[in-house]
Amino acid sequence: MQTIWITGGSSGIGFATAKEFINNNWQVVISSSNKIKLESAKKKLELNNNNNNNNNNKNLVHTIVCDISSKNNVDETINSIEKNIGKIDIALLNASAYSPNKNQIFDISNYELLIDVNIKGTLYCVNKLKDVMKNRNNTIAIISSPLGYRGWPTAGAYGISKAAQLSLSESLYFDFKKLNINVRVICPGFIDTEATKKNSFKMPFLKSAEYAGKKIFDRLTKGKEFEIIFPYLIVYFFKFTRILPYKIYFYIWKKLGNF
Ligand SMILES: NC(=O)c1ccc[n+]([C@@H]2O[C@H](COP(=O)([O-])OP(=O)(O)OC[C@H]3O[C@@H](n4cnc5c(N)ncnc54)[C@H](OP(=O)(O)O)[C@@H]3O)[C@@H](O)[C@H]2O)c1
Repeated sequence: MQTIWITGGSSGIGFATAKEFINNNWQVVISSSNKIKLESAKKKLELNNNNNNNNNNKNLVHTIVCDISSKNNVDETINSIEKNIGKIDIALLNASAYSPNKNQIFDISNYELLIDVNIKGTLYCVNKLKDVMKNRNNTIAIISSPLGYRGWPTAGAYGISKAAQLSLSESLYFDFKKLNINVRVICPGFIDTEATKKNSFKMPFLKSAEYAGKKIFDRLTKGKEFEIIFPYLIVYFFKFTRILPYKIYFYIWKKLGNF
């Protein structure tokens, strides 16, 4: 049986993706930092698993509390999965902190939090996974965001963390080929989750977490491409903004929200 480890699997995209993998008979380990949230997610996934006749009531759902901003916690979690549950075929590095800075007031503690969770947390996972996955043809999939493509107003801390994940994924794609580990990056458009409920602007082409879960399952299991994006139209629009000269880029933002 194949095993996926999903960081931040207690809600949103991680939770919906876990459900999709379970429905397809994968063994799923979800982790997150909040024990109560994680236990509640486990109950929902088990209920879904028991209602799914294909699974013959096999226990496919596992949870481990893991705050990815703690290197020790990450190391212990990966060791425990490999020893007690199964070898990790896919690690979906999805966990993320998100706090938009609506007032545009620079707050160093917000930067520190997002660097600790989104950047250092991702690095701790990669650091341990490279040792256990070496020469096994496994996959590390990192969820970044189109907000990493360019600097957005109100999203400085989140933006740098997502840009870092994107750049890291590209670099590791080359380096980890030598270890026989596949590195892939996922950039969803706007998905309706606890995180995006914090946004006060109208999100174009907003999709459900279930939609994202299905896309991630399909593309991770049926394709091999480095980059996974959805929905195409909005993500290609964000990609296009990358080549705009500053004059035009700043003008668009001024028109959109008086930035
Ligand atoms: N939603 C979107 O529109 C969108 C678009 C592009 C990219 N993304 C990316 O997709 C991923 C999932 O986002 P989402 O929208 O599904 O967010 P979400 O619903 O807020 O879920 C975030 C998850 O991360 C966990 N988490 C937070 N801090 C953690 C920590 N220190 N250690 C371990 N887990 C932690 C949370 O659980 P606990 O609180 O229990 O720790 C939760 O399970 C993120 O990487 C995000 O950047 C989202």
